[in-house]
Amino acid sequence: MLVNISLQRVVDNSYDITIDTLPKLHFDTKVAIVTNPKVAGLHLGYLLSRISAKELYIITVPDGEEYKNQQSVDLILESLFNHRFNRKSMLIAFGGGVIGDMSGYVASIYQRGIDFIQIPTTLLSQVDASVGGKTGMNNSYGKNLIGAFHQPRSVYIDPYFLTTLPTREFGAGIAEVVKMAVTFNKDFFEFLESADLNNPAVLQEAIKQAVQTKAWVVGEDEKEHGLRAALNYGHTFGHVIENETKYKKFLHGEAVAIGMVMANNTAVKMNLMSKEEALRVERLLQKYNLATTYLIADAESFYETFYLDKKSSDTSIKFILPIGIGDVKITDECGRELVMEVLREFGKKA
Ligand code: NAD
Ligand code: GLY
Repeated sequence: MLVNISLQRVVDNSYDITIDTLPKLHFDTKVAIVTNPKVAGLHLGYLLSRISAKELYIITVPDGEEYKNQQSVDLILESLFNHRFNRKSMLIAFGGGVIGDMSGYVASIYQRGIDFIQIPTTLLSQVDASVGGKTGMNNSYGKNLIGAFHQPRSVYIDPYFLTTLPTREFGAGIAEVVKMAVTFNKDFFEFLESADLNNPAVLQEAIKQAVQTKAWVVGEDEKEHGLRAALNYGHTFGHVIENETKYKKFLHGEAVAIGMVMANNTAVKMNLMSKEEALRVERLLQKYNLATTYLIADAESFYETFYLDKKSSDTSIKFILPIGIGDVKITDECGRELVMEVLREFGKKA
């Protein structure tokens, strides 16, 4: 006996991303703002001056990637249960990517899913993490290994929040901006080459272009069946660097910047990119004080760590390689020897 369950409904998860001064927001429901003490100390007053709701609660979790875990998720869930949140209630993620990923994950599981809104406060979360509905948390096996695709109802990107961002965090966000340009948008890359992102108006334009690029990619491939994996450009190498340095030496975006240079060198060896194009990317990263080199002590072990990457299988490793500037290729056909050559060169020159 066979029973078929028909699930061919098309669900419209479309939403708007506003890049501007935060508008006044009113909710006829219960709302919880999830944040951390640092962001709350700097900006909660401003946020509260823009938000009203039937009932409004603040949930604070400790600051840091090490707290993007089950304990913090439980803390948020408990608060929602205690305040009797229901399926019409709303979460607001107010912070960087850590808060965004974790609040989104809670929204995806609380009573099997409630709405949430992203109000990102770091450059990295404004141009990347808040857009596209990837949510999650870490566990002892690794980063972002638990999660769900759960799109926010809307995203409000107010560049004003960036005025308090430390320089290194700003640079880490720039790396993700450069990632969007190199992989998908040559004109944007050329804009970045001549732009001064320390100028707020120029920065707002760059945020817009990065978000437009990511929104297009997510619209094409929401659940990462193919194209969206290209947003992991620089990450395959970067994750190994983060892993080797125990997540202490580099911010994520900083490791991704070095990873992009490694991916470019691989692409140059495969004749996908010219040396001059690779240099242009390096120069752009250096303009924002991002390191572009890293001493690989043991190339063999570096290579083996690629197998921990979510895109890898037991037998093959997927690399995201630029084709010139503005196009990209996802391939598992680089050949171990060619990649090892790139890694050994990093063993010499740093
Ligand atoms: P983060 O959230 O840890 O923020 C970095 C630091 O800046 C924190 O100490 C934070 O409290 C502080 N901060 C936040 N806003 C500030 C402000 N306006 N002024 C001063 N300080 C401020 O890190 P992040 O770089 O924003 O995000 C990294 C996280 O994002 C990682 O967990 C990563 O896995 C995730 N991520 C997710 C996606 C996605 O698509 N979901 C994409 C990229 C990254
Ligand atoms: N940051 C990669 C993605 O959203 O797919």
